[in-house]
Amino acid sequence: MDVIWQERLSGARAEQVRDLVAAAAEVDGRAPIGEHVMMNLGNGEGNHLVATERPGGPVVGYAYLDLTGDNDGNVVAELAVHPSHRRQGTGSALVEGLLAKAPDPAALRIWAHGETPAATRLAEKFGLRRARELWRMRRPLSDAEPLPTRATPEGVVLRTFRPGADEAAMVAVNNRAFSWHPEQGGWTEEDVRAREAEDWFDADGFFLAERDGRVIGFHWTKVHPASPGTGGEPIGEVYVVGIDPDAQGGGLGSVLTLAGLHHLRSLGLPAVMLYVESDNTSAIRVYQKLGFDKWDADVQFAGK
Ligand SMILES: CC(C)(COP(=O)(O)OP(=O)(O)OC[C@H]1O[C@@H](n2cnc3c(N)ncnc32)[C@H](O)[C@@H]1OP(=O)(O)O)[C@@H](O)C(=O)NCCC(=O)NCCS
Repeated sequence: MDVIWQERLSGARAEQVRDLVAAAAEVDGRAPIGEHVMMNLGNGEGNHLVATERPGGPVVGYAYLDLTGDNDGNVVAELAVHPSHRRQGTGSALVEGLLAKAPDPAALRIWAHGETPAATRLAEKFGLRRARELWRMRRPLSDAEPLPTRATPEGVVLRTFRPGADEAAMVAVNNRAFSWHPEQGGWTEEDVRAREAEDWFDADGFFLAERDGRVIGFHWTKVHPASPGTGGEPIGEVYVVGIDPDAQGGGLGSVLTLAGLHHLRSLGLPAVMLYVESDNTSAIRVYQKLGFDKWDADVQFAGK
């Protein structure tokens, strides 16, 4: 087996990685590599670890190492092996490569999207520890599961986001609400504008709460087309809900979440999902009261 680091992927290599990731998602029911890595596969420099059966042969395993990392100073990796080339040591070779390249193995985080026996065993084999767990929660949007009602707090007005005008206010609330979060904190207006340029962006599904003309909370929704990772049907997402710490605890989180759920239901979507840190008990409680149940979990494994 040949396992090499590449700073740039040729167009043909990037295409093979896309095919590998699609084949893995089909078999595993979850995409193994995140959207941000896939979007940049063919452009610019990065740390790509490519496994082939012989030098120059087709890609059978792939890992990406993000050395910029998260807001907690960890470098972050994702990896996948083509379903027809599993259990031949490729996953192990990729993990060895990641552990060797990471500046500090204890600060290496490897994502397993969905907890499969294969990922669990691979982590065990290298003595990796569970460092973080992100839950996916899901709720049907059918008429059989009516949405609860919640009164909007006194003096609060809801409206939708205005591109070009609301970025600064939204980012200020986001960064105050997520000052502790490894990825969601420290956003810039540019991060918001980059998402506004994506196909899925819809200002009608992006809700702001204001008090005395000041933004104090928001709920940004997203719609995913049907794919293996969505359970085979289109699904809505509670993409980000952020409430200014000064306005937390007053029921605004539920009100904003519900505004988004009504919007997603009006689009005819059968269900809605969201990601939440497994130790964020207050958020989980809010979502459970709105009818969400745990669907599955993404785990970050860390070196020693
Ligand atoms: C997890 C994954 C990368 C493993 O790739 P792989 O090439 O099959 O891994 P290896 O052949 O090196 O196997 C590693 C160990 O896991 C075990 N293993 C692999 N698949 C397994 C399964 N389905 N059930 C139980 N054990 C399994 C192997 O037997 C081996 O253990 P051993 O060396 O003690 O015998 C692959 O299944 C995959 O791409 N899954 C989807 C993406 C993912 O989960 N990535 C995160 C990994 S932390």
